[in-house]
Amino acid sequence: MSFYGNFSKKNLLIAHRGYREIAPENTLYAFREALGRFDFLEIDIQLTKDNRWIIMHDETLERTTNIKKIFPNSNNIYKVNDYTLNEIKKLDATSWFLKEEPFKENKTFTLAPPTLIETLEFCKRNSMPINIEIKDMVNIEASYVTKLLIDDISTYLSSVNILISSFNHKYLTSLKEISNSLSTAINIEDNLPNNIIEYLSYLQVDALHIDKKLLKELAITEVNNRGFTISAFTVNSKDEIADIYNQGVRAIFSDMYITI
Ligand code: G3P
Ligand code: MG
Repeated sequence: MSFYGNFSKKNLLIAHRGYREIAPENTLYAFREALGRFDFLEIDIQLTKDNRWIIMHDETLERTTNIKKIFPNSNNIYKVNDYTLNEIKKLDATSWFLKEEPFKENKTFTLAPPTLIETLEFCKRNSMPINIEIKDMVNIEASYVTKLLIDDISTYLSSVNILISSFNHKYLTSLKEISNSLSTAINIEDNLPNNIIEYLSYLQVDALHIDKKLLKELAITEVNNRGFTISAFTVNSKDEIADIYNQGVRAIFSDMYITI
């Protein structure tokens, strides 16, 4: 069964970087707040200097952690890939957003950026499906990136409903070469390919994750009829969400918990 095939609901709401409106994005705190509200989580992953997966959206650490305070440096560049996991685990990814320590009552949660494995453990414990978005890591060979991902997710494939997506479509073909049964989705935010059906078929993906601004150019019915799921990002208004569902889009990435 593919990732989207495991949902019986028609319209799905995705917690974009966790429940980002009310909690620090891409943290266990945001994921916990999404439980019982959203149908699944969307997270962004990147590799540390020592090739461990952590949850982080930006290529650099300064917007969502206190790295400038913990590891001040003169060049003011704080790339994820320049720090080891051990170093990143010394950071606080919550205090830029929250005034109070969020996990007083539950010390199993970490203030540091979570690892992919910690996040998958959370999903397993809470039966929460997850869309893992691989951020583009330009200096690392695609086949090595996907090998490292499989190393982390393989033991969770039977217990967590997992979908892998990326703006770098090489990762998706590489994943399919490793295992045809993985559920994958392409991310597109600019320049819709000319023959989208042909392209989706070539990549053997299950879904198209598309910026909402491109929906007017997309043959939504045709894509749906060919068996590809369409999900749109990022939509934060009730009227817009209702309209996009009505167009035939199955799932919506939102920072906010909005019911229709
Ligand atoms: O995966 C959909 C969406 O998350 C892509 O945008 O920049 O928030 O990762 P971004
Ligand atoms: Mg993302």
